Amino acid sequence: MTDTIKIDALTRDGAKEELARLADILARANLAYHTDDAPDISDAEYDAFKRRNAEIEARFPDLKRDDSPSEQVGAPVADGFSKVTHAVAMLSLSNAFDDADVSEFDARIRKYLGLTSDVSLTYTAEPKIDGLSLSLRYEDGVLVQAATRGDGAVGENVTANARTIEDIPDQLKGAPAVLEVRGEVYMSHPDFEALNDRQAAAGQKSFANPRNAAAGSLRQLDANITRARPLRFFAYAWGALSDPLADTQMGAIERLHALGFQTNPLTRLCDGPDEMISHYRVIEQERATLGYDIDGVVYKVNDLGLQSRLGFRSTTPRWAIAHKFPAELAWTRLDAIDIQVGRTGALSPVARLTPVTVGGVVVSNATLHNEDYIAGRDNKGEQIRDGKDIRVGDWVQVYRAGDVIPKVADVDLSKRPKDAQPYVMPTRCPECNSEAVREPGDAVRRCTGGLICPAQAVEKLKHFVSRAAFDIDGLGAKQVEQFHADKWIAEPADIFTLRDRYGTGLQQLKNREGWGEKSATNLFDAIDERRNIGLGRMIFALGIRHVGEAAANLLATHYGMWEAFSVAMRTAEDGNDAWEDLISIDGVGAVMAGSLATTFNQQAELASIDRLVAHLNIEEAVRPDTADSPVAGKTVVFTGTLEKMTRAEAKARAEALGAKVSGSVSAKTDLLVAGPGAGSKAKKAADLGIETIDEDGWLDLIGTA
Ligand code: IVH
Repeated sequence: MTDTIKIDALTRDGAKEELARLADILARANLAYHTDDAPDISDAEYDAFKRRNAEIEARFPDLKRDDSPSEQVGAPVADGFSKVTHAVAMLSLSNAFDDADVSEFDARIRKYLGLTSDVSLTYTAEPKIDGLSLSLRYEDGVLVQAATRGDGAVGENVTANARTIEDIPDQLKGAPAVLEVRGEVYMSHPDFEALNDRQAAAGQKSFANPRNAAAGSLRQLDANITRARPLRFFAYAWGALSDPLADTQMGAIERLHALGFQTNPLTRLCDGPDEMISHYRVIEQERATLGYDIDGVVYKVNDLGLQSRLGFRSTTPRWAIAHKFPAELAWTRLDAIDIQVGRTGALSPVARLTPVTVGGVVVSNATLHNEDYIAGRDNKGEQIRDGKDIRVGDWVQVYRAGDVIPKVADVDLSKRPKDAQPYVMPTRCPECNSEAVREPGDAVRRCTGGLICPAQAVEKLKHFVSRAAFDIDGLGAKQVEQFHADKWIAEPADIFTLRDRYGTGLQQLKNREGWGEKSATNLFDAIDERRNIGLGRMIFALGIRHVGEAAANLLATHYGMWEAFSVAMRTAEDGNDAWEDLISIDGVGAVMAGSLATTFNQQAELASIDRLVAHLNIEEAVRPDTADSPVAGKTVVFTGTLEKMTRAEAKARAEALGAKVSGSVSAKTDLLVAGPGAGSKAKKAADLGIETIDEDGWLDLIGTA
């Protein structure tokens, strides 16, 4: 910072000049930071300039400029956006890729609800907008908060930015006292092109597609930049609500429209899969001339009563699905096949391609999955691509759908070079030279180096700090790679001793290239903050094979506490009680259970986990919305015929209320719900003195008779 004159010593003229200088510096810094993604001053310097500006303004209030940096809405804050915990999680949608998937969706719903094919079931069908979702909270009709989806549970507070979007009303007349409107922020094609022209004219980077432009524009720390970007908003859903909007999805959309939101004019009511698919074709036809990007059609059960009975799986509603448009394709040359080693040791072949544009994005890599895929076989040994294998030098057709990693769809054998050789998968790990073996039943070859393999270790660390895991501000994949390469961290536990080892002394983080006093302290503080960690995140962060984010959360809610989880994993063995309890969790199968048990039985892994746990305070998992549930924590068994709902629905609803549903009666059973035809289970329950009720009694108990 170049300012030296003390504020007390400034003359009036000097102050005026200094305010002009600061306004200029801060405006430039904003531009460099936001539009170029290339900040030219540090966050600390930025803060200091802003503070100095505010202090001068406080001393000479009448000299405050019209374009004063302190008046700028949502002007950058050093730590980015504040976090917002969504009152109702923002979920994603499961996908349908062809007509058969749509019919299956309808069949699944009917089966779940126990509806026969003669009962009609209506759906809405509407375009799936390719933008980014936003949740707008209105209290007494006034917009009080706007938040991005984030990880679904916690998003970013972008209220100031959302207020600059014309399609987002500041006030609503006649809205429920609490209303969270959800929808998609997007940019139209003409606005996108004009923005890129402006960017080019100003010598700034252009955006790859309207979605990136919309995301980049909404997530500006300075709302004035967002204001200058023409963003739009379609409302299509809602979160927290004090009163229902309507009885049907269509009614709710109409209500949102009447309240002043843009809703998509291509939304239709459809009477079953045939009509849904024909509306899909209509939307597909209109796609090119809509003027904004869409990537499919979303179908939703129209009756909101049925929606609530159907409820949610861990990350997606049962009552909706996204029918995606076919992916975009392009031909290019496969120049090389490289092997990447993942955190579980999987050797993944990656195609290096001559760069080609697919659907507006330059693609230079594609996943090749595993050796069978390269050879032209799927995981059941059946032919794919008519059995054509993939060789270095081949012309390949690549495709990408949405955000997924590009894949190889086809090979042009007529262009295959004469000397092209079938690809041979290495049998040693290219990173640590340990043997790479393929176990029976496993599609991939895996490095057996375990913790000694640097690639596995670094991938595990990257996973550990990723967004859905420990999500430590300032510690991303790049930093982890550098720290690992320099032997500062070898395993997750080492992250929590960084301050002790590199906060003071000979080698210090703040002296590393790219680091400074402030960023080093910020990192140490961010690490300290994460010493308190939720159980779901903790389990996910361990990077155990087959245990994704959703499964980790299921395990967390089931076991509640780290100690209970870890004891169970250490003792679970095929057939014993801990094992049975583990696989009784809906969503945990024998494969995942086996993977958990194996991990918790490997001494080196276990020791590494124990070293990590010693630095942490792992929070108890809370079961959502079960505080006043009469069945929370109870073990319930259903038997006999249920007449008002299917077994699947009964189980899902009991679990949503915090109950554990078991398939067999034992001394641990708290309640038996017995319908007509109940046999041995009812008898056993009677012998054990377990409370038994019928279906109506159950509905009475859970309050939905
Ligand atoms: S409904 C509970 N409707 O697609 C699910 N989503 O892949 C509520 N999206 O995160 C979402 N257009 O960002 C819904 N008409 C539409 C949509 C739509 C785009 C996005 C949304 C969501 C993602 C899921």
